[in-house]
Amino acid sequence: MKMAKIITIDGPSGSGKGTVSQRVASQLGWHFLDSGALYRLLGLAVSDKGIEFDEVDRIIEVAKTMLVQFENGRILLEGDDVTDTIRTESVGNNASKVAAIPQVRATLLTWQRDYAKPPGLVADGRDMGSVVFPDAELKIFLTASAEERAKRRYKQLKEKGLDVNVRDLTVEIAERDQRDMNRSVAPLVAAEGALELDSTSLSIEEVLDIVLQEAEKKL
Ligand code: DC
Repeated sequence: MKMAKIITIDGPSGSGKGTVSQRVASQLGWHFLDSGALYRLLGLAVSDKGIEFDEVDRIIEVAKTMLVQFENGRILLEGDDVTDTIRTESVGNNASKVAAIPQVRATLLTWQRDYAKPPGLVADGRDMGSVVFPDAELKIFLTASAEERAKRRYKQLKEKGLDVNVRDLTVEIAERDQRDMNRSVAPLVAAEGALELDSTSLSIEEVLDIVLQEAEKKL
């Protein structure tokens, strides 16, 4: 069987990994996995059902049974279009809470690995290079200062018409970083062998160029 090649792009929220990953995937004509969207969908489904974050068995049940569809750039949960809803900071925070539960991560593992199809996959997340695809051909760890990341998120959310302010976003981002970096399973860390890129003073185009050059060298 022909194996899929894999590029992993991990990093904290607002590092630019989502945009860079999608653009790398489209340039190479590869598949794209937005693993954060899966955690966000679960975070949303759990809060919609009024389930508390310590009700682990109920959360796992939702993770195993929730109906998710990715269609023409839209994301549906149980048939409802939640493309924009899952991008809010509150759903991001819920995602980060369910993501700290080891059984949740185990449940989502197979689902994520199933995305690895020829010719290749660009996987965006927190533990793509460290846990989900440890044998990836190229691993990138993309960071940026917390202030810069808050500014980028502000711009993104404003463009979507959401009511946000930079100060609240900075606090929320810092809170989420702490939870993602300090959890016991699959914390946010640079995977072994990952190329660490600080995008604070780089444009998306510059980051994209570096990643594509690395891909050319390694693939
Ligand atoms: O990348 P994102 O902001 O959409 O991710 C939302 C949350 O999901 C993030 O705070 C932590 C969690 N997450 C994770 O734990 N592992 C991943 N591979 C992707 C996201």
